[in-house]
Amino acid sequence: MELQDKVVIVTGAGLGLGMSITRKVFEEGASVALWDMNLEAAQKLAKELDPGGIKVFAVKVNVTDEADVQQAVSQTVKKFGRIDVLVNNAGISRHETLENMTLELFELVIKVNLTGPFLCCKSVAPVMRKQKSGKIVNIASLGGRTGRPGVGVNYAASKAGLLGITKVLAKELGPDNIYVNAICPGPILTDQTRQYPPEVFASWNAGRAVPKDGLPEDIGDVVIFLASNRSDWVTGISLDVNGGIFIG
Ligand SMILES: NC(=O)c1ccc[n+]([C@@H]2O[C@H](COP(=O)([O-])OP(=O)(O)OC[C@H]3O[C@@H](n4cnc5c(N)ncnc54)[C@H](O)[C@@H]3O)[C@@H](O)[C@H]2O)c1
Repeated sequence: MELQDKVVIVTGAGLGLGMSITRKVFEEGASVALWDMNLEAAQKLAKELDPGGIKVFAVKVNVTDEADVQQAVSQTVKKFGRIDVLVNNAGISRHETLENMTLELFELVIKVNLTGPFLCCKSVAPVMRKQKSGKIVNIASLGGRTGRPGVGVNYAASKAGLLGITKVLAKELGPDNIYVNAICPGPILTDQTRQYPPEVFASWNAGRAVPKDGLPEDIGDVVIFLASNRSDWVTGISLDVNGGIFIG
């Protein structure tokens, strides 16, 4: 049990990668706050994992809303007494070519994928600083590293920006024993990626070194490493998890 007695927040916990991350951290002994805008999905998973609701609880939160996030932090601390790990996973993707990319669409993705994690870090950090410990894991993306075709400028900019946040906060929060790292997943089939035509999804896998397709569980396993004491001298990095599609 790598996360025995740890308290973990997963944003966007109800579906896709967040669902898998939540299952994994729960299996490793953590108490989990499932933050999601989609409360129904988060509640369904929470109920499945722990019907008594002792070690899990679902919170409706829009990560772009500061009041919502602060409220969710208060609820989490009230329920579990502390916060050991924050996984900034909630994110969206809305691809358009530059010509068709409206300002509204650009700002929407930046808001969820970049402002959201900023607000979550800002609200959780005081709790971790007080404890003098914590781990933050930011789910960025291969798309923010390579600018692969079919990834909008909004999404690529948001994820590249999240890597910047990761580096700055590793330095800023490090003295209080708070570790901040990122994961850059390659393409994995979820609701987010199913919106793209299969040939576009397949093109993202071109040149992959290993035959294995990426699964949500592959990301959950790396989250466990970065959330646990196994990574106690690792901070400020981004880990590429993509089967060798991109080797940087
Ligand atoms: N699936 C992939 O191939 C892939 C690859 C690289 C990175 N990622 C990143 O992984 C993360 C999860 O992606 P996914 O594929 O599981 O997506 P998904 O669409 O399947 O799930 C996203 C979850 O986030 C929640 N969410 C969305 N906006 C929110 C908001 N404003 N506040 C709170 N919750 C919100 C949704 O309700 C949903 O539960 C995202 O940050 C995504 O960019 C995914």
